[in-house]
Amino acid sequence: MQMEIKLLSGALGAEIKGINLKDTSEKNFKKINDLLLEHKVIFFRDQLINAEEHIALAEKFGPLETHAYVRGLEKHPEIVRIIKAEDEQNQWGENWHSDVSYNAKPTKAVILKSIKIPPVGGDTCFSNMELAWETLDEDIKEKIKGKTAIHSSLGAEFFLDNYKKMQGNKKKNYDEYSNEHPIVRTHPETGKQILFVNWTYTKKIVGLDKKESDEILKKIFEHQARLELTCRFTWTENTVCIWDNRSVIHFAIADFYPGRGLGYERVMDRIAIEGDQPN
Ligand code: SIN
Repeated sequence: MQMEIKLLSGALGAEIKGINLKDTSEKNFKKINDLLLEHKVIFFRDQLINAEEHIALAEKFGPLETHAYVRGLEKHPEIVRIIKAEDEQNQWGENWHSDVSYNAKPTKAVILKSIKIPPVGGDTCFSNMELAWETLDEDIKEKIKGKTAIHSSLGAEFFLDNYKKMQGNKKKNYDEYSNEHPIVRTHPETGKQILFVNWTYTKKIVGLDKKESDEILKKIFEHQARLELTCRFTWTENTVCIWDNRSVIHFAIADFYPGRGLGYERVMDRIAIEGDQPN
């Protein structure tokens, strides 16, 4: 089958047809990785891959990551099942973020497979952080040049206590993790500059007082969320999404309102690949 690429917006994202994700040959992997580097987030509908095939695909990108707070599946600990229950509105990732940016080595890429998708709601948005850097106001660029920022996790409460069906690691881990990263990082594969801060985890610009840091970060977060930097994807079941967690931020829209008769279950299987130290 001929490969087809349908762009999701002018900013980033593509839906790909004609690639079989069960094929983990070097040739097929190179095709997938090239598509990922070009489009930053790619989607493949109707991929009937099982857990082992999901893991095999992820392992092509590098060693797999264990989540600090959340327990993986019993038989496949590499897979975190993200479950939003029917009677709750909260769901994981419902604000702009880059996964685990508070880690010393934040996630390289994530492979998410949709298991159960509601008839309405639950889209995911992505924003292109290479484009965000290119289009950032010059005065702000000047102020953050060469600077680093502190990224901190929100503790297990944020991850687990708000999400009834998610399970924590063996002992409930309430530690908060914090690390300092350059505000502008260089993509290790493309050499491109990327704006590497995000609304959920970036707390402070090092070397600035809190007021100035808060003001600049607020402007950056507003810039990152500009719709012309984004794409939005409406899921169907058995879709596989791969995002480059170094060069995008994302936002899972929690537009579920049980009180308005829109209380649906949404289930995703997530595998994350270890990243490197941003520089
Ligand atoms: C996440 O934020 O990691 C999950 C995204 C989604 O469920 O759409």
